[in-house]
Amino acid sequence: MKFLIINGPNLNLLGLREPDIYGKQDFSSLQQFILDACNEAGVEGELFQSNHEGAIVDAIQGAYGRIDGIVINPAAYTHTSVAILDALKAVSITAVEVHISDVSKRESFRQISYAGMACIKSFIGLGFEGYRQAILYLKDYLQ
Ligand code: DQA
Repeated sequence: MKFLIINGPNLNLLGLREPDIYGKQDFSSLQQFILDACNEAGVEGELFQSNHEGAIVDAIQGAYGRIDGIVINPAAYTHTSVAILDALKAVSITAVEVHISDVSKRESFRQISYAGMACIKSFIGLGFEGYRQAILYLKDYLQ
């Protein structure tokens, strides 16, 4: 089973970026954490990060016929991108949403998740652990 794990804009700056909200661990630590979680789940993980909405749409389209499940943290595009929602719907690959911070307790503009409308479940506010839970959940759901 092969999963695509997508991280959106500014997540490459983890560690530097608002550490009180996103923690002190950097993005390479997150990537290693995700690969370890894939190993634990017994799935192959493909990692993708971009600061560009269209590149994320391309990555979702490129998953068609190749990838069994998607874990996605669209970052700020969560709250704005109908294009990412439409791409997830278009390929019909089972997807799970992750947010490091608890967006439900943050600004009002973070209260809508377009991508989440195409996801079977969301793991919010659990830090890196949310990715692990998403991967394990998706594996259980798909098998
Ligand atoms: C985020 C939450 C978003 O609101 C924010 O724009 C991000 C990160 C999170 O993981 O908590 O960039 O998706």
